[in-house]
This record gives sequence, C-alpha cells and structure tokens, in this order.
Amino acid sequence: MPKCTYYTHSFVTANMPFVTSPLLICQAMKILVTGGAGFIGSHTVVSLSEAGFTPVILDNFSNSNPEVLAGLEAILGYPVIFYEGDCNDSGIYSRIFTEHEIGSIIHFAAYKAVGESMEQPLKYYRNNLGSLLALLDSMQQHGAGNLIFSSSCTVYGEPDQVPVTENTPVKPASSVYGNTKQIGEEILQDVASSLPFSIISLRYFNPVGAHPSGLIGELPIGVPNNLVPFVTQTAAGIREVITIFGNDYPTPDGTCIRDYIHVMDLAEAHVAALNHLLKVKREKYYDVFNVGTGTGNSVLEVVNTFDQVNNMHVAHQFGPRRSGDVIAVWGNVDKSAEVLGWKASRSLAQALKDAWNWQNRLPKP
Ligand code: UFG
Repeated sequence: MPKCTYYTHSFVTANMPFVTSPLLICQAMKILVTGGAGFIGSHTVVSLSEAGFTPVILDNFSNSNPEVLAGLEAILGYPVIFYEGDCNDSGIYSRIFTEHEIGSIIHFAAYKAVGESMEQPLKYYRNNLGSLLALLDSMQQHGAGNLIFSSSCTVYGEPDQVPVTENTPVKPASSVYGNTKQIGEEILQDVASSLPFSIISLRYFNPVGAHPSGLIGELPIGVPNNLVPFVTQTAAGIREVITIFGNDYPTPDGTCIRDYIHVMDLAEAHVAALNHLLKVKREKYYDVFNVGTGTGNSVLEVVNTFDQVNNMHVAHQFGPRRSGDVIAVWGNVDKSAEVLGWKASRSLAQALKDAWNWQNRLPKP
C-alpha cells in the first residue's frame, strides 16, 4: 500500500506556485516525465498514476497546450505536479531533483516533425540531444540512475524483412529527426556501459488514438503531418480531403504499411518498462524494446476502418508518394512480451473510435 498524506501544494509552475485545496495524495514513487504534456507523455502520466506512481511533469508547451493539464486533472481527479521549463536547462532539473525524490525518469521531450528536422537540423540536434545530455548530467549529479528513453522504429529505416525485431540492423537515418533518435540510443548505450545507469530505450511504432474519456489526445499545431490527426480533422470538416501519399507501392493495396498502436497501450508499455527497471535493479544495464502491436495496416485500411467504426465517410484522394516514407514496417513484439510482460491489447478500430471521440469534443476552430 502506498503511504498517503495530506498535501496542500501540488500544482506548481516555474515562477508562481499556487495552492489548491488540501488533498489526499499517495506518496508513491515519483517519476519525472519530461514532455509530460505531449501526446504520448500525457497518456503515460495517466497510466503511471493508475499504476500507483506519482508523475512529476516537466514541459515547456513548445508542442503542447496548457489545457492538457486540465484534462489530466479531470481524468485523475487530483492536481498534477507540473514544472514549466526547458529540458535543455540544467537549472530546472536541479530544482526538480532538489524538491522531489525522483525514483526514475521517462524522457519524452523532443521535437518530432520529420520534414522540419530536414529544414532546421541544428534546432533538432540542439534540442533533442542537448536536452538528453542536460538530463543525463543532472541525473549523474543527483544520483538518479533509472531512465526510459523515447526512441522510434524509424531507426530500422526501410527494413529488408518485416516484422522487425530488436536485432534487425539499424539503417542510416533518413531524417535528422531519425538521426537524433539513433544518436540518442548510442549515447545511452555508452553511458550505461560505463556509469551506474539503468536505461531502456522503447522503439515506438505509430501511436494513434486517445484516452477513452476524450479529455486528452493528440493536438497537432497547424496542419497535421501524421495520418490519423489528418483523418479526424477531415472528418470534423477542418480539412476538405485527406491525400493518401502513394497507391503504387508493392503492398497488397498499393499504400504504405505501418504498425498503429493505441496510445494507451503505448503508455502502459512505459509502466511495464519502469517496473522492469525497478525489478532488475542493475547498474550498467541497457536494453531496447519494440513497442507496437505486431501487425501492419495499410493507409487505406486505416481510412476505411475509421469510416466503418465511426459510421462516416471521410473524403480521400490519392496523391504522389511522400518523400522519405518507408514502404512497410511493423514490429515483432515478442521481446516486450517475454521480458516486460507487456502486450498491446486494444484494436485499431478502438484507437480510431477514441481518436474521433477526442477530435469531436474539441472546439471547432
Ligand atoms: N499519410 C498519408 N497522408 C497523410 C499523412 C500520412 O497518406 O496526410 C501516410 C504516410 O505516407 C505514411 C502513413 O500515412 O505512409 C503514416 O504516416 P505518419 O506521418 O502518420 O507516420 P510515419 O510513419 O511517417 O511517422 C511516424 C512518426 C515519426 C516516427 C515514425 C517512425 O510521425 O515521428 O513514425 O516510423 F519517426
């Protein structure tokens, strides 16, 4: 049973703490969640809380919205611990490590737009790698050793064989964004081989969906790059038509294939990875895990499934291939099942229902 106590001060911003009404909050292990207001981060905050951990969120809202915190609090029923700050700033880590006893860290905070990363490489290297180094420095300084890192199946590039396992060779990155994930993994492997760290990199496949409450979900800024937000915005009338990038690929229906994983399954994978880190209690430990469903679906299947489960017809058209897209990738997830005891349990249909439920609750722009 986690130890519980009355708190009077749980919601904190960088410069101005304010006090909410006294609340009973369990003093479970605190987990620093960088990028905890983002899409995957916010859903992981929910899963961590449900599993009895106390998340401490650090985010600068560079690609998220402060309203996410209200959504989180509505789901959880109590205020979240939040720091507004830049993950490149070692000062903010010092403050958090001093004010809280942090048991582990989950590092989501990163820029993630593939196209933008090619136009502004320095911005991506500086932010994605700078924040990782600042975090590792602070962890070392404060004796914190457990870390889960957001990696990506992008490290496999265009694989020679699918599904990909964790032993499938890493291919040269096709984008600066992808390279920041590859270099990030290399840094972590080096760090864990010589310092007392215990680190897991999770290679995410394509996260989709939203929390079933519709209170949190994916909120892209501007025109969405990713498939499902574009589909939901088209269904909502914000976009006229979704363009499917290429229908002449060597796949059964000619469109690209990906492994779409419900974001709540992905969130729960972080809890499983965390429990594993806490259980192995090993220093100089590093491992990587695929986090997908083990199944591939084509772009056309996603659009058609969305229509079916939500009883709609989203206008689509075929356009030219998008540069940099891999043809087909999906993951073998046996290692996650065997070692972490985790397996995705929600269907693509469920994810697309939840994505629409979330979109539908958003105010129309
Ligand atoms: N697609 C369309 N039309 C759109 C948007 C996407 O047809 O308007 C297609 C893409 O061409 C691709 C598929 O939908 O075939 C999925 O595209 P996404 O942009 O949703 O996802 P990606 O697979 O390109 O990229 C995602 C993440 C990256 C991550 C990568 C790992 O966005 O951050 O998975 O492979 F690195």
